Amino acid sequence: MQQKIERIGESVLSLSEDGRVPFYRFGPGPFGLPGGNKPAPPVAGTEPCGNELCDICRAAGCKQRQKIEAESDGAPCFKVSGMRKISGRARVHGAKNSVLPILAACVLCDSPVHLERVPRLSDTGVSLRILDSLGCTSAFSGSEAVVDASGFCETRIPDRLVREMRSSVIFLGSVAARAGEASLCLPGGCELGARPVDLHLMGLRALGMEIRERGEKLYATHHGLHGAEIALPFPSVGATENILLAAVCADGKTVLRGAAREPEIVDLCRFLRRCGAKIVGEGSPAIYIEGVPKLHGTEYTIMPDRIEAATLLGCAAVTGGKLELDDCAPGAIGSLMTVMRRMGCELEIFRSSVRMMSPARLTGAGLVETAPFPGFPTDAQPVLTAMGCVADGETRVRETIFESRFKHLPELVRMGADIAICGSEAVIRGRRKLRGETLYARDLRGGAALVTAALAAEGESRIYGLSHIDRGYERLEKTLGSLGADIVRIR
Ligand code: UD1
Repeated sequence: MQQKIERIGESVLSLSEDGRVPFYRFGPGPFGLPGGNKPAPPVAGTEPCGNELCDICRAAGCKQRQKIEAESDGAPCFKVSGMRKISGRARVHGAKNSVLPILAACVLCDSPVHLERVPRLSDTGVSLRILDSLGCTSAFSGSEAVVDASGFCETRIPDRLVREMRSSVIFLGSVAARAGEASLCLPGGCELGARPVDLHLMGLRALGMEIRERGEKLYATHHGLHGAEIALPFPSVGATENILLAAVCADGKTVLRGAAREPEIVDLCRFLRRCGAKIVGEGSPAIYIEGVPKLHGTEYTIMPDRIEAATLLGCAAVTGGKLELDDCAPGAIGSLMTVMRRMGCELEIFRSSVRMMSPARLTGAGLVETAPFPGFPTDAQPVLTAMGCVADGETRVRETIFESRFKHLPELVRMGADIAICGSEAVIRGRRKLRGETLYARDLRGGAALVTAALAAEGESRIYGLSHIDRGYERLEKTLGSLGADIVRIR
């Protein structure tokens, strides 16, 4: 019998009395926060704001949808028959956002790295192809991968691979740190918004890298990296990872303040320590790194994917199901579980597993703001909106991390959802029923939200855009099918 624990870390403690996640303020930042340099979102009705529920954007959104419809003709899709209870027991896969930086870190190791619980995702495949293109060898079987970077010989990261996966920018830190140079094309904007890399570059430059930006290309060189005091104005996950990867073998001590505190950062630091790095403070806003001459290989198990866990809990909750998630790192999904409780779900939390029983009908969540960890994760926001669509009452979701993370909402509206968007806030009034529809996923987590809604809907849905969903979920249809969903992949 596992010991039941109710205190699940700061995640829960970070919520205020009314359960609201406080808006994260970290000094001058990129978000239209005080002192930030990101332009405030346009006032609805004056200029296109990118959310297609707004009148002024509707026409543009429809055109874009027509284009996606045409492109999806004959493409694989999920066929989902809704209103089946998602119930049972599951074990989540390894975390996408953990395995990607860890694979980039393998470049720094002079002997083979054995990884377990590696999720079979298209993004994992892209990372392994990047490693191969750099002269490393890799083998991937079942959920185990072995990477040997002893043959590392190439410092140009191929453009086509960078374009396939925006987070390939985390190879910049490790490749340049190991070889003295690296080049890659700018990952550019993506479906979630502009996504600049200024904080990555600022941190790497502070460690002694010279980085030139020529057109769409980044060229990094150095003649020896040195420790530095770096303060991030916003706790960017990717920038924290890039700085860590460059600092672990730099000469001297680095103090990284304003670091991201996400569980995946903690996982990366644990991995690096197993490879010989000297790091303390991960999980707090200040990380201290003492450079070592080199890293060696190790064996490591990737942490569970907290966003897959959130998605499965959301799918069970919209169908009135009971779900037991084994080995799912409950401390990493504290804020989500607080919101789910507010929506009427009963949750029993154990050291490494969670048992959830959902009510016949969810209650609206009220206001939920996304925030860096330990706040409510932006990656779980789309699934929360799908839950709100079938809840009794109102759910207001304020997105504070990415400016373009509501692209799935027009699809939910097509299913009968009642949603209004005002700038970065979506107001969802729950309906008793959604109806099955033909739907198009335009980003990874938005795709997961469409699957969640389709499971709760009356009738059949077809969900296109599986290339997005496959980036972050290993055979989602198989996992959901094993829990009672009627979902098949049609090729
Ligand atoms: C990572 C996750 C992603 C998650 C996000 C926030 C991976 C592979 N992806 O993305 O799933 O949604 O964290 O938890 O781990 N920013 C800047 N300048 C920079 C870097 C970031 O302005 O140099 C801005 C971004 O535009 C964005 C915000 O900071 O608005 C958050 O970005 P960041 O934390 O860096 O997210 P990613 O690492 O891209």
